[in-house]
Amino acid sequence: MVTRRAYITHMGSYLPNRILTNADLEKIVDTSDEWIVSRTGMRERRIAHEGEFTSDMGYQAAKKCLENAQIDPNEVDLIIVATITPDYLFPSTACMIQELLGASRAAAFDIQAACSGFLYALGTAKSFIESGIYNKILVIGSEKLSSIVDYEDRSTCVLFGDGAAACLVQEGGSGLRIDAFELGADGHQNHLLILPGGGCRKPTSLETLKNRDHFLKMDGRGIFKHAVRRMEQSMVETIEKANLTCEEIDWLVPHQANIRIIDSLTKRCGIDDSKVIKTVEKYGNTSASSIGIGLDEMIEKNLIKEGDNLLLLAFGAGLTWGSMVLKMVGAK
Ligand code: ACO
Repeated sequence: MVTRRAYITHMGSYLPNRILTNADLEKIVDTSDEWIVSRTGMRERRIAHEGEFTSDMGYQAAKKCLENAQIDPNEVDLIIVATITPDYLFPSTACMIQELLGASRAAAFDIQAACSGFLYALGTAKSFIESGIYNKILVIGSEKLSSIVDYEDRSTCVLFGDGAAACLVQEGGSGLRIDAFELGADGHQNHLLILPGGGCRKPTSLETLKNRDHFLKMDGRGIFKHAVRRMEQSMVETIEKANLTCEEIDWLVPHQANIRIIDSLTKRCGIDDSKVIKTVEKYGNTSASSIGIGLDEMIEKNLIKEGDNLLLLAFGAGLTWGSMVLKMVGAK
């Protein structure tokens, strides 16, 4: 039997050109550049334009990805979109992007695992490819977090930004081979980061609007405590599954929630700081898009060499977490 292997062969990303700086935030809430930089590492984030939605940003990233691959949208078998800010509760954002792309042959669905969504979607794509069901899958992370952020709440509004990334996962060929992954969740901690309103438990009403339940609520300290521990456990498991050691990891591509979380993981992983991808300063936390945006920047800068091992690490609401090992095979 021939073993099928899933590869990320091409990527694309999209960031709106509207910039919200720490100085801008100082005018909106009681905060300071010094507080934001020292607690989070963030200096600015991108904000979608009026009339620009999660599907539009996801479409732009996917279009670039398919252009890089020189693949007609009709060749795509499946579109998976990871997002916590879908255009609508339904239909899925994946269906909206399918229409925008004209990818009429593709099946389409959304995955919701908050900031871990990109890794959940990539793991799903790998499984579809390696089981022989599909050959070409578009995995997209797209978020318009500015639509669920409360710009009257200084403890959350400084953290989040908008953007999208897409990758084409194919059987065989060359690119980033998906060697191993691990996903996890702890529903006991679901209250730590939540959008309380708008679902069937608290449908939109005058009361939910008054309570500002249509905006995300977060216990930052609570999340912080779990984040490093869960990602470290996940990392150890996945590196072992890939038959590697920490020393053999060439690049760390973590979710960009907070520079202090990233620095802590860097130490635990024992990897040199120059080998850790950090976009948090420029884009803030873009949830399901952040790992894809980081990966695309690495590819654009031609940083990844033949045989390099990459470790992707994510953590988010749910709580959810995940890690994945990729190997560059057949680099040009
Ligand atoms: N500017 C100035 N002061 C602020 C701000 C602000 N923007 N926000 C909070 N403060 C104040 C608080 O009111 C508090 O004041 P007090 O001591 O007088 O009560 C003080 O700063 C400390 O607040 P903490 O919340 O304890 O600050 P902390 O050092 O924990 O940093 C932060 C907060 C940055 C949110 C941090 O906890 C964090 O990054 N947590 C992880 C969050 C995370 O990863 N979330 C994303 C998950 S991904 C997803 O699924 C979308």
